Amino acid sequence: MSIAHIGHAELLVPDLDASVSYFRDLVGLRVTETVGDRVFLRAWQDWDHHTLVLTDSPEPGLRHMGWRVKTKADAEQIHAAITERGVESTWTAGSDEVGHGDALRFLTPGGLPFELYWEVQKHVPPPEDASKLPSHPSRVSIQGAAVRRFDHVTFIVDDVVAEQEFLTNALGIRHNYFIHGPDGGRWGSWLSCNNVSHETALTRNAHQDGGKLHHIAYYVDSVDEVARAATLLIDHGYELEWGPGKHGTSGATFLYFREPGGNRVEIWTGGLLIFDPDWEAIDWSKHVGHLGNSLWGTPMPETFRDGTSLPKTVVTA
Ligand SMILES: [Fe+2]
Repeated sequence: MSIAHIGHAELLVPDLDASVSYFRDLVGLRVTETVGDRVFLRAWQDWDHHTLVLTDSPEPGLRHMGWRVKTKADAEQIHAAITERGVESTWTAGSDEVGHGDALRFLTPGGLPFELYWEVQKHVPPPEDASKLPSHPSRVSIQGAAVRRFDHVTFIVDDVVAEQEFLTNALGIRHNYFIHGPDGGRWGSWLSCNNVSHETALTRNAHQDGGKLHHIAYYVDSVDEVARAATLLIDHGYELEWGPGKHGTSGATFLYFREPGGNRVEIWTGGLLIFDPDWEAIDWSKHVGHLGNSLWGTPMPETFRDGTSLPKTVVTA
């Protein structure tokens, strides 16, 4: 069984127009299509129809996170593996979502709304946005932070160890590194299906009130671009939540902020790459765990471990 890569996230937002403007004009995403109360967006070098869906909703939160598998047979194998572990799932024949085909949807044991799909609609740019460069699915963005590509989705869960073992053993997502808190317990785990440092991560919910979206992340090419994004956001009336700073674990430079609906977003760059076929997860012990979170000492806000400040996960059919 094999998951190919992280695909997209669907965020629920209470003011659709405000969130669309924010992601389009400041983050620099492109709107691919609007269908009813859902707006589909992508970064300039995202190859598929969309990597972000913004859906109008009374409350903010995460509706689903999509992973692409290579074939339907991979989804069927994962279906057997999760069923064996008592996880219920639903096959969606003919997706309700434009841009990809049939899907398998389920809630992980930690309460995360996952979706697997295997057929995608590639992005076809309108003539005015088509690049003459074959490696560019659309022209380089001239909007806002002009992020290059969708990067990862991080969650907050009650039991990091149990959820990581489910993702690794049932879904086949490699465990890349983990971090201990001062109490010696597992505070975070980072995982990927390919050579990036992580496509998803799990951090411990200090308030133990269930699994929630922690943040979605888009990638830029340089630290300079992260710094420019920070200035751009502040000058347009928004606050930064954490950063710019550097994670010791991945070595990536980060910047966190909230979109108008309250969902957390990260812009980041760098990060280790993994090519080793027999990789063993790196253990960041409690003695150096603080360097893993914040190498330069930029204080981590309490909101990062406090799940009460995050929108709830909203599960719909
Ligand atoms: Fe989806």
